[in-house]
Amino acid sequence: MKRQPRSSPRSGKPRRTVSIIGTGSYTPEKVLTNEDLSKMVDTSDEWITTRTGIKERRMAAPDEYTSDMATKAALSAIEQAGISAEEIDLILVATATPDMLFPATACLVQNRIGATKAACLDVSAACAGFLFAVEIAQQFITSHTYETVLVIGAEKLTSITNWNDRNTCVLFGDGAGAAILRHRGGAHGVIATHVGSDGQYADILFMPGGGCRTPITCENADQHLQTIHMSGKDVYKQAVTAMLAASKKVLDQAGLTIDDIACVIPHQANLRIIEAIADRLKIPIERFYVNLDRYGNTSAAAVAIALDEANRSGRIKAGDYVLMVVFGGGLTWASTVIEW
Ligand code: UT7
Repeated sequence: MKRQPRSSPRSGKPRRTVSIIGTGSYTPEKVLTNEDLSKMVDTSDEWITTRTGIKERRMAAPDEYTSDMATKAALSAIEQAGISAEEIDLILVATATPDMLFPATACLVQNRIGATKAACLDVSAACAGFLFAVEIAQQFITSHTYETVLVIGAEKLTSITNWNDRNTCVLFGDGAGAAILRHRGGAHGVIATHVGSDGQYADILFMPGGGCRTPITCENADQHLQTIHMSGKDVYKQAVTAMLAASKKVLDQAGLTIDDIACVIPHQANLRIIEAIADRLKIPIERFYVNLDRYGNTSAAAVAIALDEANRSGRIKAGDYVLMVVFGGGLTWASTVIEW
């Protein structure tokens, strides 16, 4: 049985359902292939393809920033939703690569799109950030605090990549995805959500430099402390375990089984992780939407870009149950079941 709407503690009105009424995405023009990377570090197309499934990724121009990509994805979502920017009450940008530590990248997007009445903040939950932001948006809408929320996942990961480290530089790419959330009468929309974290594993995927603990100095920069550090194998194991548990938990909350799900949109980090989850959930891999071969891992943007592609290509249709499940540094994980 699906969760019944409760009354909102804030307004006393019945809790509202929340739907995604428009999606958008943007990826930079420049393509960096496995072949290109094999000229930069000791790697090969064969190694990257068999170990990750990635064939190429996009790279933002030197003067193209997270806010620029986020703005393009947002405008596309706004257009599809058929709303005006002035209707947006809240902008959430999930990112690990904000333009600056402050102000929030969401404020920069607000200014660019003319969402003059919106409150703005960034969400820091690494690769899981987009679904954390969807959960926050949902809470604000069901409680009648806000009507319309713009949620964006956007990253310029190539700006924090150590191009001498073959363990990480082959994995990441740049891009942005966006969604407009609002109550839509007669639709179930978001049926269930689950978010979780485990800080004891903070040091298996992190960027040590750039915060107050290790400020940017020439010495720290020489040691690449302002780039991604990752224990790949540890992250791999945690990712499979956490995404599997998060998928089961949200299906349980929704009162659905995996057979009810028309499309699974997972975090796009590694095809082997996705295959392991498909195997353990006992569903064919074809039921998963995968685009990591073209974009690599774009962290918070990954599931948002995949959602937009699945939506625009007709891979997901009205009435379909869609499961999204993500995992990232923190550790953080999240899952959402939506009736599209
Ligand atoms: O967004 C969430 C964050 N990230 C993830 O979800 C990533 C999770 N982890 C993974 O996807 C995988 O662990 C990796 C793709 C990062 C690595 O795959 P792996 O099968 O776990 O390989 P490994 O780290 O155990 O390395 C195996 C070998 C090593 O050589 P030796 O020690 O066996 O001689 C590495 O040095 O492969 C070597 N290697 C490479 N060789 C060619 C590592 N990177 C490369 C490379 N090209 N790019």
